[in-house]
Amino acid sequence: MIGLSSQIVFGLPRALLAIVAILACAPTSASAQSSPQPGADLRTVLAYEQNVSTFSQIVKDYANLFTNLTTSGVTVLVPNDSAFRRFGRWHDMLKSKSVAAVKYHILQNTLSVKSVIKGDSIFAPTKLSDRAFTNVTGGQQLIITKQPSNEVVFTSGYATRGTVVVEDLEFYGGLIQIIDSVMMVPERLETTLRDAYPDSTAFLGALYATNLTSEFANTPNVTIFAPHNAAFWQMARTFLNMEKAELKRILRYHMVPRRVEHSWQLQNASSLNTIDDNAVHITRFNNYVFVNSAQLLQTDILIANGVVHMIDNVLSPAVASARPDVSLTSQRPVFSATASSPTGTAAPTPFTSDLPCTVDCPVPDATPIATSTDESGDGVVRTTSSRGNVAAARCTGLPGAGVGLGLAAMGAVMAAL
Ligand SMILES: *[C@@H]1O[C@H](CO)[C@@H](O)[C@H](O)[C@H]1NC(C)=O
Ligand SMILES: *[C@@H]1O[C@H](CO)[C@@H](O)[C@H](O)[C@H]1NC(C)=O
Ligand SMILES: *[C@@H]1O[C@H](CO)[C@@H](O)[C@H](O)[C@H]1NC(C)=O
Ligand SMILES: *[C@@H]1O[C@H](CO)[C@@H](O)[C@H](O)[C@H]1NC(C)=O
Ligand SMILES: *[C@@H]1O[C@H](CO)[C@@H](O)[C@H](O)[C@H]1NC(C)=O
Ligand SMILES: *[C@@H]1O[C@H](CO)[C@@H](O)[C@H](O)[C@H]1NC(C)=O
Ligand SMILES: *[C@@H]1O[C@H](CO)[C@@H](O)[C@H](O)[C@H]1NC(C)=O
Repeated sequence: MIGLSSQIVFGLPRALLAIVAILACAPTSASAQSSPQPGADLRTVLAYEQNVSTFSQIVKDYANLFTNLTTSGVTVLVPNDSAFRRFGRWHDMLKSKSVAAVKYHILQNTLSVKSVIKGDSIFAPTKLSDRAFTNVTGGQQLIITKQPSNEVVFTSGYATRGTVVVEDLEFYGGLIQIIDSVMMVPERLETTLRDAYPDSTAFLGALYATNLTSEFANTPNVTIFAPHNAAFWQMARTFLNMEKAELKRILRYHMVPRRVEHSWQLQNASSLNTIDDNAVHITRFNNYVFVNSAQLLQTDILIANGVVHMIDNVLSPAVASARPDVSLTSQRPVFSATASSPTGTAAPTPFTSDLPCTVDCPVPDATPIATSTDESGDGVVRTTSSRGNVAAARCTGLPGAGVGLGLAAMGAVMAAL
């Protein structure tokens, strides 16, 4: 208890810490009594719950964030103590974005878990709206889903998920949901793709190669369709031989500004306008969602300025009429391979060498994704790690990425769980 508190209350002298710890323990003894009075405040209600001492301490330390809650009606997500123990980097997250991290655990509305319908997905805005940490205006969001098993799950940045373990505790000001994971503040596009979704590094590299990264990562409220690496790799020569202006036009067709469209909001036969006002078309078939003829592979990756859906093909504004052939298990690319396209596995994934590297070129310690490449060009295909390829990229420095990295690696690990 004291150990955990001292991680949170950094900077306080030890003696004071001990007092804080004792005070924090004091109300816990009240848990012998049955339950708090109706209308009790947040701290009192938490004092009756077991294994939430870390968050109770946070409520004390950030008292000003919790004082005015009573006026609007909110939901407070309370990770239990083992969630904090598992999430060893909470201390780092507090240092770099303490207020943001805490605000991300407070939903703007009172959300009763009991009211969530099975199979439903909802996204809920949080109190986190500071532009230094999010460019989703109106509050960065969390996704709430009720599983077929009836479990209610909150999803945050890096697809970090927390299951509700104690639901709908009432306090004066709203409801408390105790969850089994800390919620991760969604990171920027670059950090998220590079560190948690290495299968989209070709797309990210292409954004760097065309100077589109900042437009994609700084425009508020966006939906981005990110083709996975194989889509670029399949047509490597085509994309590498393309004029920069043409490549740029194609990439800009992958971003929908002013709309954060979660996968379940994508309506069959609807259109979304991309940056240059060319529309992409949505098709739904059974549980599949397609944008033009590309299939959504991984959906609802929350980032600082919106949401990313990973897709299986590169979209072309010149072939906006492309529609899926739903009888096929995988869709044909809309680009044709140039005659000189390299054969099979001999082609390196295009644009991955355009990724800047962080100053010390760290490699996230998650399991590497094996890919077959012929790096040396001698016709011998070797199995290497795509993370390794990224790490071998030039060290040009990536401003502002340092803080995210440790968290990112943790996020990747957590996402893999
Ligand atoms: C609190 O934690 C202890 C030890 O991990 C566990 O045995 C107990 O069941 C937990 N209580 C609740 C209500 O989760
Ligand atoms: C709480 O409300 C008061 C009065 O409306 C306001 O002055 C203060 O800034 C608010 N505090 C926070 C942390 O929002
Ligand atoms: C936190 O919740 C998880 C899931 O119910 C449970 O396994 C774990 O024991 C809880 N930890 C504590 C300290 O209560
Ligand atoms: C939000 O966008 C602004 C530029 O408009 C940028 O400076 C800021 O870093 C962005 N915030 C995040 C969290 O990416
Ligand atoms: C941004 O998106 C959020 C959530 O979708 C919405 O509440 C807000 O109004 C949008 N803001 C703008 C300026 O489009
Ligand atoms: C890159 O894009 C930014 C805006 O996103 C622009 O300000 C800058 O001039 C561009 N740089 C080059 C070299 O085109
Ligand atoms: C979806 O839209 C297509 C037209 O784009 C239509 O043919 C199809 O019947 C629709 N499917 C459903 C389930 O509504």
